[in-house]
Amino acid sequence: MIKKKLRVNTKQKSYDILIGNNLINNAGNFLQNHIKNQRVFIITNKTIHKLYYASLEKSLTKKNIKTYKIIIGDGENQKNIKTINSICSTLLNYKINRDDTLIAFGGGVIGDIVGFTASITLRGVNFIQIPTTLLAQVDSSVGGKTGINTKEGKNLIGTFFQPNLVLADVSLLRSLSHREFLAGYAEVIKYSLIMDKSFFNWLVKNKRRVSKQEVSYIIEIVFRSCKNKAKIVNKDENEKNIRALLNFGHTFGHAIESLNNYKKSVIHGEAVSIGILMAIELSLLEGKIKKVVEEKVKAHFHQMKLKSSIPKKLKSKISVPKFINAMQSDKKVKDNTLNLILLNEVGNAKIVNNFSTSNLRKVIKKHIE
Ligand SMILES: NC(=O)c1ccc[n+]([C@@H]2O[C@H](COP(=O)([O-])OP(=O)(O)OC[C@H]3O[C@@H](n4cnc5c(N)ncnc54)[C@H](O)[C@@H]3O)[C@@H](O)[C@H]2O)c1
Repeated sequence: MIKKKLRVNTKQKSYDILIGNNLINNAGNFLQNHIKNQRVFIITNKTIHKLYYASLEKSLTKKNIKTYKIIIGDGENQKNIKTINSICSTLLNYKINRDDTLIAFGGGVIGDIVGFTASITLRGVNFIQIPTTLLAQVDSSVGGKTGINTKEGKNLIGTFFQPNLVLADVSLLRSLSHREFLAGYAEVIKYSLIMDKSFFNWLVKNKRRVSKQEVSYIIEIVFRSCKNKAKIVNKDENEKNIRALLNFGHTFGHAIESLNNYKKSVIHGEAVSIGILMAIELSLLEGKIKKVVEEKVKAHFHQMKLKSSIPKKLKSKISVPKFINAMQSDKKVKDNTLNLILLNEVGNAKIVNNFSTSNLRKVIKKHIE
């Protein structure tokens, strides 16, 4: 049953985010009005395929929607130009046309790959997001950022391309490991910290029920996260200004991921979680927040058991200059200036480029010692 519905209104497209429990068996009902010619290409990975593909296919077939499947490998290292090339070739061999629809059925990796493929195939075909991780449901499936990684850095090749629909079924999250759940939760906290103090208080108050993944609480966090994200994306679709706030913790996080060569010892949401803490520590050193704010946020991280430190093995390979260098490869660097998102208060963040480099060094040093 659909419990919550949100509308995203961008210049490119307006679309719904449908949120509920046990939606996958009725996916055909929800998708049929968004599919032009009764033909879809479902792109997924082998893990999701095993778990949920049959249910999705059955529900679409019931509505006379013809399905084709493309299964790729699992993991961040699939986000490369080779994968895109291979998916495009398969689609072209199936004689894909502009009325066909791609379905991104998976976590953020699948979403980013399929969104990018949809944006460049025949100069743009429809696509629908069916996110299967918490991270993808609260963040990556909404807002139209697509992309792949290169050896120069993360997500440096990509497009802004909005989906036609997002179907977020929280029942799919039951098979997610707790580690992956927490990785997604880092993005949830991000919204509360940058723009929604009452959400932060709600998360703190309901931490046990959220941690136990009680369905109505998960629906609420997906809804409130997407609502915040939609608010920002509606105002600044192409990240000319305030959308950058969503990168809170990410410039630090992307540096960690890239220094770790995107290996699974630190997954994206974990890097973001450490990055958020680093951004908060810098906010404190810069005199933007009081110690009590830092303590309040850190206490919640601790209670939820969020990742807060870089693994020892990786630390030993990092130096402060290497870390700063990796931060500078991030695409948020403009005119050689590093822009960071710092906190002024819970629920209020700002884009800052006049922070002290010595404070930045202190924060990095603390995390790599
Ligand atoms: N486009 C955006 O706006 C945006 C925003 C945030 C993150 N991202 C990107 O998202 C990616 C991270 O996404 P992610 O954390 O979802 O990682 P992911 O897609 O790699 O999924 C994590 C793991 O969980 C498995 N999995 C997925 N759904 C499952 C389920 N229901 N049950 C069991 N296992 C399941 C996957 O196979 C994978 O092994 C990164 O590449 C990041 O750059 C993009």
